[in-house]
Amino acid sequence: MILVTGGAGFIGANFVLDWLAQHHEPVVNLDKLTYAGNLETLASLQGDARHVFVQGDIGDAALVARLLAEHRPRAVVNFAAESHVDRSIHGPEDFIQTNIVGTFHLLEAVRAYWGGLQGTEREAFRLLHVSTDEVYGSLGKDDPAFTETHRYEPNSPYSASKAASDHLVRAYHHTYGLPVLTTNCSNNYGPFHFPEKLIPLMIVNALAGKALPVYGDGMQVRDWLYVKDHCSAIRRVLEAGRLGEVYNVGGWNEKPNIEIVNTVCALLDELRPRADGQRYASQISFVADRPGHDRRYAIDARKLEAELGWKPAETFESGIRKTVQWYLDNPDWVAHVQSGAYREWVGKHYSPA
Ligand code: NAD
Ligand code: DAU
Repeated sequence: MILVTGGAGFIGANFVLDWLAQHHEPVVNLDKLTYAGNLETLASLQGDARHVFVQGDIGDAALVARLLAEHRPRAVVNFAAESHVDRSIHGPEDFIQTNIVGTFHLLEAVRAYWGGLQGTEREAFRLLHVSTDEVYGSLGKDDPAFTETHRYEPNSPYSASKAASDHLVRAYHHTYGLPVLTTNCSNNYGPFHFPEKLIPLMIVNALAGKALPVYGDGMQVRDWLYVKDHCSAIRRVLEAGRLGEVYNVGGWNEKPNIEIVNTVCALLDELRPRADGQRYASQISFVADRPGHDRRYAIDARKLEAELGWKPAETFESGIRKTVQWYLDNPDWVAHVQSGAYREWVGKHYSPA
């Protein structure tokens, strides 16, 4: 079996759902259930013995050690993190605690467990750390995309905390020989994305008749990847990645924010036209910029493509259409997130492990 951390969040939950749709191998899912953790996303796994959910913190060394000893996973995939840049600007402390201190405790527990494995179990074991392109900093308009050897230049408390975690993971490989893999991915979008991030926020605000807040001039560039393509990349790196290596993950989809917002509006105009005949784009409102806002990210994914033969399945056009349609088809998931009712799910459906 594998141990997934942060598997009730956006990417982790998509990963768990896809994993169990394709493998018989069980998943132990350790998640603290912060505001970003949503067990309703995993409702389709209710009663599935291959999914063992445990509410807890990656920084709880005793708990992680117990789970490792009990379940003897062949791999740990670490998604657990505080992930929202704006929140890191308003309050960095949780980011330091989970992304740095938590990752450290997780590494220590995994090192002790791996140290006790023998033979083929020890050889096969992997820790895959999921990271972000934001650790590389911001690109100028004509700069080449980030490669794995790009200098680390994080600019927000979030990206600085992720950079620190990447360095710890790297150090545990070099110092202790821990069999690690790191992936640095660009911006994800898709089903179950918490509506504080750009794309889901624009969809839910548009449908609610609210303003669509675009920071600054809206010309910041992000490189978008459909979440299920990120999940397939992680599975491939876990399967065949070289130990100690870093793999950048991206789909060559650079777009300015304002283009993203206009695309979402145009899709909603087509799929759920406003009752008054107006266009959703009329709700766009330019607002104050994010402090220290990185201007451009772009991922060079050639290493992953050439070495491991990975390719995304979705284009931006197909992925964004699926995403908008998913939000239109799942109003209950959205409503429960907005009302806070999703946080009651754990008490109703799970008992503490
Ligand atoms: P998310 O915020 O949606 O989910 C994070 C999950 O981690 C939540 O379920 C939360 O409850 C859990 N968590 C937080 N602190 C924890 C702790 N101390 N112990 C255990 N669980 C904890 O984040 P996401 O967007 O799914 O991102 C997952 C990972 O991928 C993060 O490491 C993030 O840095 C990275 N990443 C995200 C993106 C993106 O576009 N969202 C892109 C590249 C990399
Ligand atoms: O690049 C990978 C990163 O992508 C991940 O590591 C982070 O966890 C993830 O949150 C995401 O970070 P961003 O800051 O790029 O994502 P966000 O959705 O918050 O913002 C995307 C862009 O849209 C960014 O330039 C800020 C802008 N924006 C965002 C919001 C929420 C707006 O213009 N208006 C908004 O309301």
